[in-house]
Amino acid sequence: MIVGIDAITYGVEDLELCRRFFGDWGLAPSGDDNFETLNGCEVRIRHKDDPALPPAMEPGSTLREVVWGTDGKVLEPCLDPNGLALRFRKSRKRKVDVKGVPINTWDHAARVDRRSAFYERAHPVEVGHLVLFSDRLAEMEDFYGNLGFLVSDRYPGRGVFLRCTPEGGHHDVFVLQTPDSKPGLNHVAFTVRDIHEVFGGGLHISRAGWQTQLGPGRHPISSAYFWYVHCPAGGLAEYYSDEDWVTPAWKPREFEPKPEVFAEWAVAGGLKPFQKK
Ligand SMILES: [Fe+2]
Repeated sequence: MIVGIDAITYGVEDLELCRRFFGDWGLAPSGDDNFETLNGCEVRIRHKDDPALPPAMEPGSTLREVVWGTDGKVLEPCLDPNGLALRFRKSRKRKVDVKGVPINTWDHAARVDRRSAFYERAHPVEVGHLVLFSDRLAEMEDFYGNLGFLVSDRYPGRGVFLRCTPEGGHHDVFVLQTPDSKPGLNHVAFTVRDIHEVFGGGLHISRAGWQTQLGPGRHPISSAYFWYVHCPAGGLAEYYSDEDWVTPAWKPREFEPKPEVFAEWAVAGGLKPFQKK
């Protein structure tokens, strides 16, 4: 069974810029142009013309390979219908002792005599999901379905949210087909420990000079809080937290694509931090 994203490789135009971005994003360096999240999920950057890279699904800086972690079985490398290279390995991600801060609600004081969290910056726990543009939505759903992915929700004819484990986060891959879609990367999403780290990370990356596309905001479909930033390695990078946790009892729903279905609310271009820098 596929259990999650173990490693991703970007092919990029400007390595130096990407090194700076992923440092500011909160990943730890783990060797030459390799970075990792807290649980050991790898993010590698290579020059886009590196002959060792698999072919690109779109021009420019983009995702070139995804390594899916499994619980033991190793499948043959392949290309998905978008032309994105996939490999598989027994997951090398570590269990980490990372705790979010409880939120006090009307009915339950989960945090007593204890201040909440204020993060100076984010340290992503893992790469949680990918969002891909495609011009062959049905083929992508079949292909990932054959790998064992389950449908969590759908925009019929327009998009499908897929998860790799019957119980887990709402989606590991979202495939989006718009009338003029070509295969490509929309974003890579990095899971942080709680909503406060979404805000702390977004404010830090803004102070470091990177441009927010949209965020913070909240998705009605997965309930997650998000913050999307333009990523020099390709597409957008997202911090997110508090997505729905689903089990085999979850019934896939169908939605019509509308702005209010994408976001309950969102700040275009980001927030201005009050700290001076
Ligand atoms: Fe996302």
